Amino acid sequence: MGKEGGRPGTWTRLLQLFRAGGKGPAPDAPDRLARVLCVGSGKGGTGKSVLATNLAAVAAQEGLRTVLFDADLGLANAHLLLGVHPRWNLSHVLSGERSIAQVLEPGPGGLALACGGTGVTELAALDEFQLYLLASQIEELRRDHDLVVVDTAAGITPQTMVFLAAAEEVLLVTTRDVTALTDAYAVLKGLTRRKAGARVHIVPNRVADEEEAGRVYERIRDVSIRFLERHPGLAGWIPEDPHVGRSIERRLPVVASFPAAPAAEAFRRLFEAFAPRAAARPVVAAPALIDTASRPPL
Ligand SMILES: Nc1ncnc2c1ncn2[C@@H]1O[C@H](COP(=O)(O)OP(=O)(O)OP(=O)(O)O)[C@@H](O)[C@H]1O
Ligand SMILES: [Mg+2]
Repeated sequence: MGKEGGRPGTWTRLLQLFRAGGKGPAPDAPDRLARVLCVGSGKGGTGKSVLATNLAAVAAQEGLRTVLFDADLGLANAHLLLGVHPRWNLSHVLSGERSIAQVLEPGPGGLALACGGTGVTELAALDEFQLYLLASQIEELRRDHDLVVVDTAAGITPQTMVFLAAAEEVLLVTTRDVTALTDAYAVLKGLTRRKAGARVHIVPNRVADEEEAGRVYERIRDVSIRFLERHPGLAGWIPEDPHVGRSIERRLPVVASFPAAPAAEAFRRLFEAFAPRAAARPVVAAPALIDTASRPPL
């Protein structure tokens, strides 16, 4: 889709959102805005979608009005993990057929899903301006929800970086593999360049125990301190657990399908660690996420 592709009404609305970015809430803004957590990784297949869907499911179970925004554009699969059959996706928002609220689909426990589109090639080839407009939709979602969890594609492409930069907190998932660790560091480096104040928390996934999680975390922390002068936190860790694979077959997050499984317990622990940051905040304390620094040039 080209920049001229949408209906004029939608582009006008998106451009208004774009111009409002960084200038604080509109006059009719609510008094609270959702928190935004974005899940990323350097290497593919590390467990981002499993983490994003389970965190969103726990938040919904806890009564937070939660949206999962699937920003793995064109190759989205969170809907498969949630057993949702989406009629709409983010391409319909960009084309002007639907508003962001109109593409939300109900998922387990009452969470809402904004699907990134599967096999929608035009979504996989958006330019940075279009990506920015799409990320601006997260501001819209913040108005009616407590928490927005964003799942991203792996890597350091603009498609991923724009969403990582638009989040208040970033959860960076890595396994113990040296390739996953190296690529996670690359994301951290790219994000630090783009947004100096980015808050990044490491999530070792598929580890044997706490000790191994600690080793995985320390490797990435030490190299970040040394070369980036950044000290990422440890958000929590998720064990290797066969219930995860079985939950995917059941099309339900493991926290809903096998709530007593070790991975389910770990997702709840991770959420609890984040709970103080996960509730919506008064607007005065909630900065606009799409700031001038992350805008592409017009
Ligand atoms: N803690 C875990 N225990 C066991 N298996 C896991 C765990 N986490 C993830 N997996 C397995 O890894 C696979 C990939 O997970 P997931 O789809 O979440 O990765 P991803 O990072 O989103 O991948 P992509 O980069 O392709 O989007 C899952 O299908 C699941 O079988
Ligand atoms: Mg994924």
